[in-house]
Formats: sequence, C-alpha cells, structure tokens
Amino acid sequence: MIRIDNLYMAFADKEVLRNINLEIHQEEIFALIGPSGTGKTTFLRILNFLEKPIKGDIEYNGMTKPGILDIRRRMSLLFQTPAIFNKSVFENVAYGLKVRGIEKKIVETKVNEALNIVGLDGMEKQKARTLSGGEAQRMAFARAIVYDPEILLLDEPTANLDPANVMKIEEIIKRIRNERGTTIILATHNIPQVRRIADRVGILLNGELIEVNSKEGIFSSPKDARSKAFINGEMIY
Ligand SMILES: Nc1ncnc2c1ncn2[C@@H]1O[C@H](COP(=O)(O)OP(=O)(O)O)[C@@H](O)[C@H]1O
Ligand SMILES: [Mg+2]
Repeated sequence: MIRIDNLYMAFADKEVLRNINLEIHQEEIFALIGPSGTGKTTFLRILNFLEKPIKGDIEYNGMTKPGILDIRRRMSLLFQTPAIFNKSVFENVAYGLKVRGIEKKIVETKVNEALNIVGLDGMEKQKARTLSGGEAQRMAFARAIVYDPEILLLDEPTANLDPANVMKIEEIIKRIRNERGTTIILATHNIPQVRRIADRVGILLNGELIEVNSKEGIFSSPKDARSKAFINGEMIY
C-alpha cells in the first residue's frame, strides 16, 4: 500500500529520521512506537505531505509521483491535539466534505454515519467547544474518516484520554479497519494498546527504525535488544 525507501529528514542541522525503509500493507494496523522526540509525528507528516523529506522515495499504491491532491483525498491524518472550530459538531465533521464540494444531502448522510461510528450520534447540534476531551477527540476522529480515506494516519490518538475513551477509540480503530478495510498507521507509545490492536509494529529510536516485526514477534522474540528494553518499559524517556 505504501512503500518507503531510504527516507531521511532533518530540521536545520538536526537529523530527525535516518534511512527509513518500510512497507505498509493494505488493511493492516501498523503501530509505530518509540519514545517521545523520536520522529513519529515527523514521519506521519511526511507521509501526509505536510513536510518534505530531504531524501527518499515514497510510493503509494504503486504510484511514485502521484498528484498530492489525489493522495491527500484518499488519506487522512488525525493530529495528537486536533483543532476544533468554534462551530457545531456537525459543521466540524462536515468540513472536509464541504471543501471537496460534496452535495448537501450526501454530506448529511456521511456526517451521520461518521458520528455513529464514533458514538456521537444525536450530538450534531452541540457546540464543539463544549465537548469533553474524549468526545472532542472522537469528533476529530469522525472528521478524519468522514470522506472514507483508504489510509488513516493516527498520531497518538489516545495520549491524553481517560481509560474509557481510550477503549472507545481503540474500538473505533478496529471497526474502521474491519468494516471499511482502511489501512491504518498508528503512532503511539502505549505498549498495551499495541498488544490490543496492532497487526505489525515498527520501533523508531532516535530517528532510526530499529525493528519491524509482527506483533507476536515483537513481544515474544524481538530481534533487537533495544526493542526488548522499550517494550518492557526499561527504556528511560
Ligand atoms: N518543525 C520542526 N523544526 C525543528 N525541529 C523539529 C520540528 N518538528 C520536529 N522537530 C524535532 O524533531 C524531533 C522529532 O520530533 P517528533 O517527530 O515530533 O517526535 P515524536 O512524535 O516521536 O515525539 C524532535 O527532536 C523535535 O524537536
Ligand atoms: Mg509526536
């Protein structure tokens, strides 16, 4: 689905990603884990064309030089701290469809579907600013999936949530993949979450992808001693 070759990124003189080689498979939940400051967000932003790498190739579904608009229409990034417009829940979720010029009736259907998936049905008229933290994050999730992207990039979507909302978000992630066949890349440093929902795992350490493995592999027989330390919570960060 996505193939990344020899990717490098730096900000000024600071190297942030080094020689990243990775394939993301269709319909998988790929967890990108690693300590804070290790380059997860930067990597997702590059995939979503918000940053330009200094070197490297990214191939989306066999296309090496796709139009950015073409890909971005089929891909969605949920930010760690989503922006909320001072409007109703409906308007917040409908935004991505409206900018695409979709007709009103379809916008309504799609927004309602998305709100149903995230468990916010019936709240479309509420002011988004009055939502609780968990509800706001679920609204942002609805906004990310409302146009049915093929690829969903999630940047620590549960980092600031209470356990009940963490569970809800995890259920939504699984449901989206199972019902819509969405390919999902999930940046997280929540190891139990990886255990619960990931198919494959990549460990990013100081900008280097030190190991890519199946979930079973990474927990039972990690190839790199540093992976083992990170997974067992022995790494200080
Ligand atoms: N726009 C930027 N300008 C300069 N440095 C940046 C910028 N964005 C990220 N960085 C740096 O890149 C490194 C990786 O950051 P980030 O990708 O946010 O890591 P993570 O998401 O894993 O916590 C950090 O050292 C961060 O300070
Ligand atoms: Mg980050």
